[in-house]
Amino acid sequence: MAQPVTKAIFPVAGLGTRFLPATKANPKEMLPIVDKPLIQYAVEEAIKAGITELIFVTSSSKRAIEDHFDTNFELEYRLQQQGKTELLDMVQKIVPKGVDCIYVRQPQALGLGHAVLCARQVVGNYPFAVLLADDLIDANTPCLTQMMKIYHETESSVIAVEKIASEDSEKYGVIAVDQNWRGQGPIQAIVEKPKPQDAPSNLAVVGRYILTAKIFEHLAKVPPGRGGEIQLTDAIASLLKEQKAMGIQFDGIRYDCGSKLGYMQATITLGLRHPELGAEFRAFLQEAVS
Ligand code: G1P
Repeated sequence: MAQPVTKAIFPVAGLGTRFLPATKANPKEMLPIVDKPLIQYAVEEAIKAGITELIFVTSSSKRAIEDHFDTNFELEYRLQQQGKTELLDMVQKIVPKGVDCIYVRQPQALGLGHAVLCARQVVGNYPFAVLLADDLIDANTPCLTQMMKIYHETESSVIAVEKIASEDSEKYGVIAVDQNWRGQGPIQAIVEKPKPQDAPSNLAVVGRYILTAKIFEHLAKVPPGRGGEIQLTDAIASLLKEQKAMGIQFDGIRYDCGSKLGYMQATITLGLRHPELGAEFRAFLQEAVS
């Protein structure tokens, strides 16, 4: 039986340059979609999939993330005094009982692979998930939950992918699959941000991974890759030489909230669905585009 996955790494040390000036002093992961920061969507997805240890790989400019997942005594005291029990409850449930937050610093921005490697001591010899909060995934069954099913069936690493236009291949890790691929299957190869003519398929990696602890050995030895950074994709390519990894085209829609357009699309989708504001927002949008 596969070891249960209870740890998730959230690499949040990135500078968010695609979203300047909003991210000059605020972490990009704290940008809200309607009323909830991006990082909280990713954390909720992880908790729904059974994660109980949230490991944030952070940097000096990201203190707001730690504060968000900590108690805010003054706020909670005042909400209680004012009898705002629903708000108090909402604030107190951001991290449910039985879930722990752990913070690890990434001292230098040496890439996603390096960020994951920074969490090695905390993860130890256990399988773990990696969630990139920029990628907000809207799905009936949370993406990580869909991936867990395959992890338990195959006892191997699982990587979420989606179809992209071939001209976009240079933004993503791209996988190669065999002719039996029907939305999921073993990954034959993986390459970071290939040129369209070099891309092995149109299946791009999105920011959700379940990885075995073996990946750390590969992360520790891969040389700097694309952009001079330690790439998680390169370590997965190296892992494939000794372990199988599965790809899954998840059911759901991914919004690239690290880009302004993706962020606006997510805001509109979730805004329209908001229980209190949805109807009014829909009416406004209809008027605005007519
Ligand atoms: C990272 C990964 C890339 C993956 C992407 C998904 O790239 O390196 O393989 O496809 O996340 O969002 P980044 O977006 O950090 O450049």
